[in-house]
Amino acid sequence: MSDSRTQFKSKFGIIMASVGSAVGLGNIWRFPYEAGQNGGAAFLIIYIVCVLVLGIPTLMAEMTMGRMTQTNSARAFRKMTQSPVFSKVGYLGVLACVLIMGFYTVVAGWTFEYMWEAVSGTMTDLSAEQFTANFNSFVVSPFRPLFWTILMVVLTHLIILGGVQKGIERAAKWMMPMLFLLLVVLCVYSVMLPGASAGLEFLFKPDFSKITSEVVLSAMGQAFFSLSLGAGVMITYASYFDNDVNIPRTATTVALLDTSVAFLAGILIFPAVFTFGIEPTQGPNLVFVTLPNIFAQLPMGSVLAFAFFLLLALASITSLISLHQVVTAYVAEEFKLSNRKAALVVSCTIAVLAVLCSLSLGVLNDIRVGGLCMFDLMDYVTAKIMMPLGSLLLCLFLGWKVEKSKILNEITNYGTLRWRLAKTFVVMLKYVVPILVALVFINELGLFE
Ligand code: PFF
Repeated sequence: MSDSRTQFKSKFGIIMASVGSAVGLGNIWRFPYEAGQNGGAAFLIIYIVCVLVLGIPTLMAEMTMGRMTQTNSARAFRKMTQSPVFSKVGYLGVLACVLIMGFYTVVAGWTFEYMWEAVSGTMTDLSAEQFTANFNSFVVSPFRPLFWTILMVVLTHLIILGGVQKGIERAAKWMMPMLFLLLVVLCVYSVMLPGASAGLEFLFKPDFSKITSEVVLSAMGQAFFSLSLGAGVMITYASYFDNDVNIPRTATTVALLDTSVAFLAGILIFPAVFTFGIEPTQGPNLVFVTLPNIFAQLPMGSVLAFAFFLLLALASITSLISLHQVVTAYVAEEFKLSNRKAALVVSCTIAVLAVLCSLSLGVLNDIRVGGLCMFDLMDYVTAKIMMPLGSLLLCLFLGWKVEKSKILNEITNYGTLRWRLAKTFVVMLKYVVPILVALVFINELGLFE
């Protein structure tokens, strides 16, 4: 079976597809508001440490697992163990991907609304309150968000139909560089604003007294979400890697590029926030309410707003296709369906879920589980439970249940790569990552409070 699977065509394509998965709403929307709420530079430093100590080893672990097994993420675990717990870890990831797509597609769809508003010129003459009211009435409406959500599902579906090389790899190869370019242009614009120095100081001048256990744990959670860890995405992508792909180097590059995008998003947002006297601690509203507000006050604001939301849409699409591919590969390979049919089943399922998620912010808001509407529930269950748990179990599995020589062989391409940290990597998998992830997990369940 593994012989007939297509593979990524080029190393550049592999990096762009993996970066495409990692870079998304998590970097551009979630990172700035998390940094804003958790002390700016203090958060940034801890975040970097988390990426280095936890993110990169886990990313390498997922890639090792994927290339070693050359199959979808559910079967990957089954192929390697009969343990009743570990053999099921892959299913947890597949389910997580379905649920993440449920709410992620909705937020991704909102970017289309904002692009549309930028083009149609409705964003220019509004007051700060009107922007908030606009956003609030838009997200609860039963029609417009659904239209954009479905459009997002259709676009994702079409890219997936293209397959690994012609769909995912080709899309990521032009979308990701374009995203970097747009982000850099907007950053240059932002750092020329009068409040830029205050914004940059907030982001880069650490006040160590702001480092609390809460900040540390939030930064860890953000690192996992941002690097797409714990849902089987990188296992699936690495199953299309060639045997000579340098896993340590690829994982490190992906993590560095992902972190650079988060930095750039911070450099874009905070100077503007400080220039216009907006609270950096706003929270999840930051992008959808604050930025249009800011753009409206700038010369060429509509063009900038359009460019920004286009960028957010591109980043979301490349993350969505990675989530979709995990589930499509699973359905196609497990139920022996063609890629086309499998993709259709997945897209229809996501369309239904996403529509329900979107409606749960409006007409279905009364239907709640544990006090959360469906949208918030899916976000909570995936980001705060399933992803940390998936990462924890993967590292425990590779660290304790798989022969060390097997892991060392895979990560060094059967000894052809010299990598001095190979043994350290195994120690990280066995002890460091599981212990630290367990802490994040416990914190996110609120058990420290
Ligand atoms: N890493 C993506 C982001 O930062 O937006 C989100 C994501 C993608 C999470 C894929 C999980 C995943 F499996």
